[in-house]
Formats: sequence, C-alpha cells, structure tokens
Amino acid sequence: MKLSFKNKVAFITGASRGIGQACAIALAEAGAHCVLSARTQGGLIQTDNMIRQKGGKATLFPFDLQPKNPFDTTIDNIGPSIAQQFHRLDIFIHAAFYYTPLTPVDQITDQDWSKNISINLTSCMKLVRTLSPLLCATPNSQALFLQGITKPGAFWGSVTSVQAAIQNLINCWKEEIKDISTVHVQTITPPPTKTLLRQSFFPAEDKDKLNSPEKTAKIILAFLLKKQNP
Ligand SMILES: NC(=O)c1ccc[n+]([C@@H]2O[C@H](COP(=O)([O-])OP(=O)(O)OC[C@H]3O[C@@H](n4cnc5c(N)ncnc54)[C@H](OP(=O)(O)O)[C@@H]3O)[C@@H](O)[C@H]2O)c1
Repeated sequence: MKLSFKNKVAFITGASRGIGQACAIALAEAGAHCVLSARTQGGLIQTDNMIRQKGGKATLFPFDLQPKNPFDTTIDNIGPSIAQQFHRLDIFIHAAFYYTPLTPVDQITDQDWSKNISINLTSCMKLVRTLSPLLCATPNSQALFLQGITKPGAFWGSVTSVQAAIQNLINCWKEEIKDISTVHVQTITPPPTKTLLRQSFFPAEDKDKLNSPEKTAKIILAFLLKKQNP
C-alpha cells in the first residue's frame, strides 16, 4: 500500500528513539510535516537528520513531560504553538512512555509512583487538553495513543495501573468530542518491538524475535491510513 500523508501536520511524542522515532520518520517520508518531541535533544536531532535524508521536513520541540515545578506551563503551550505555526494538526501520536521498574506493589516507592503518574498519566491529560481544540478544528484529524499491557499481573501493578487509567481518560475524551468533531481517537498496542523500553521490561528475551521499530511503524501508519480512508 502506498502511504501518503502529504500536507498533513503531525505531532509525535517519544520521537527521540524507538517506535515514536520510527513513526516520525515514516510519516515524514510519506509527506507529513512532523513536530518532534522528547527530552533528548541529540535523539531529536538524529530523527531530524534521518527525516531530512529522506527529503522530509520536521520541527523540533524538545521538552520534559515531567513539569519542572507546579507552575511549569510548557505542555499547555504546545497546542497554541502548533496552532500559531501551522494552523492545523492532522495527526497526534503519543508514543512517549516513562519506564517504571517492575516491582511488587508493596515495594513501589513514592518517588517511582509519583513520576509514573506525573509523566505517564498527568501529561497525557495535559496533552489532550492542549491539543484537543486544534485537533477538533482540523477536519478528519487523528489522535493515536500507543498502549502497552493493561492486564494486571505480578510486578506489573505500577505500569498496568497507569495504562488502564490512560485508557479510561482517552475513552472519556473520545465520547466527549464524538458529536462535535471529526477527530478519530484510537489506541493501538504495537507488537513486541526492539526498543529500550522493551529491553527494560524483558531483558532476557530473544531480541531476534522482535519487530524492528521500522516494521512496527509501517503497521501503525497503515492503521492511520485505514482510519483516514475507511
Ligand atoms: N516496544 C514494545 O514492544 C511496545 C509494545 C507495546 C506497547 N509499546 C508502547 O509504545 C510506546 C513507545 O515505546 P517504545 O518501546 O518505543 O519506548 P522507547 O524506545 O523507550 O521510547 C520512549 C520514548 O518516550 C520518551 N520519554 C520518556 N520519558 C519522557 C519524558 N519525561 N518527557 C518526554 N519524553 C519522554 C523518550 O524520550 P527521551 O528519553 O528522549 O525523553 C522516548 O522517545 C510506549 O507507550 C509503549 O508502552 C511498546
């Protein structure tokens, strides 16, 4: 299938490595202008270089999903900044995820718990809040959230709790905007993919059996395209 996202504007979190980076490169190659975000400037520059090599265009938007202080409004400014520069947002892919150690529930530390909630859950709410007006104003826009394991199991309390909460939040937002916009709100669980996150959760598994991020990105883009032209 020939993938075309010509003249689309896409905002991708987690674009410094892994699946987010591969999605950004594939989207840019298919014609989208990609706004790239993550903390690591070096990773974003690498993504930008790979996009340029393929003839694509990107804008870098480095930031930490963990607020620096209670008055940090960096995330709140993202929607207005994209609106000011591009006047539209066709695709939002939320691929950023902060790794919290797999631990028995009775040993989760306050620090790990609060970082998990702040970076993974609160920031997701803030991203939806800041991007929703622009996504709703852009015809047939798409918001895609990459989700992992939500089924509870030993040692997965921290990770699965936050992912289940994210899923609820997204479902509620989807209901709220379904009659007043044409935004396609979706979640997708990517197949096992060779990334730093995967390596942290499953250090002993056979990496040769995992998808490359590029292969997973192709699946994700095909999914987006199917929703664009059902
Ligand atoms: N890999 C798999 O097999 C798999 C399977 C199912 C679901 N998923 C889901 O797919 C998504 C992407 O995972 P991945 O495997 O590609 O992980 P990854 O390679 O570890 O990438 C995670 C991304 O999140 C960003 N990030 C982490 N903390 C951040 C923070 N505080 N502020 C801003 N950005 C931050 C990282 O960038 P910086 O460190 O530069 O900030 C990085 O770009 C996740 O939601 C994951 O749950 C992955």
